[in-house]
Amino acid sequence: MVETNYELDMSNIPNHIAIIMDGNGRWAKKRFLPRTAGHKAGVEAIREVVKYSNKIGLKYLTLYAFSTENWKRPKVEVDALMNLLVNYLRKELEELNKNNVKITAIGDISKLPQACIDELNKSFEITKSNTGVNLNLALNYGGRDDLINSFKSLGKLIKDGKLDPQEIDESSIKSNLSTSDVPDPDLVIRTSGEQRLSNFLLWDVAYSEFYFTDVLWPDFGEENLRQAIYSYQNRDRRFGGLK
Ligand code: IPE
Ligand code: IPE
Ligand code: MG
Repeated sequence: MVETNYELDMSNIPNHIAIIMDGNGRWAKKRFLPRTAGHKAGVEAIREVVKYSNKIGLKYLTLYAFSTENWKRPKVEVDALMNLLVNYLRKELEELNKNNVKITAIGDISKLPQACIDELNKSFEITKSNTGVNLNLALNYGGRDDLINSFKSLGKLIKDGKLDPQEIDESSIKSNLSTSDVPDPDLVIRTSGEQRLSNFLLWDVAYSEFYFTDVLWPDFGEENLRQAIYSYQNRDRRFGGLK
């Protein structure tokens, strides 16, 4: 049951919410459906969450859609996920653009099927000037992979004599991550009862608040997101200091 007797403090909406959308497979299994049916139902949840995020004026919404580890799944499932991504963008782009949503991605999208790359590039281009919620899709994203790439870039700068190793700091590491244009998440949500990061945003979540719910991703919607934000608003973020 979702509680509804709480009001959000509209002056304290998190700036960036990142969601580990988990539980599609279990949602399908409970219904004796193939796992892909769960992923399909998960797209509906994305629709609702993006709409609500925009409504409350959220600035950044990062959705973990495909991890660097998810390639280990059977090819039919990987293919189905890639097809869903292409279809989602094809079907929703016009509406998302109309709603002022800006689409971006993190992770190495160059390894995705060409059709995905094409739809993504088109979506980035069309929505790049939008000022509503930034829907940031984590695709072939891994926190360690992202850190490795950042360190490689820094190594190259050092090799080329453009950076003194002593100058490496938090900001130079962040600015060479694929998350360089998104601020660190204020709130990380994971659905389906799992309480782990699964290689999500390792550098960026240093001071994020975490919210875990047993709700499976396809069942997650506006009210669940509101409840997560409500929980966030009742926390005391100290960042190591004192109140
Ligand atoms: C999340 O649901 C979607 C992706 C990881 C792409 P899962 O497919 O992991 O669902 P469960 O964890 O098997 O229930
Ligand atoms: C994390 O979920 C990745 C995404 C939600 C895209 P997984 O279902 O892949 O994570 P594990 O395997 O349970 O850690
Ligand atoms: Mg899972």
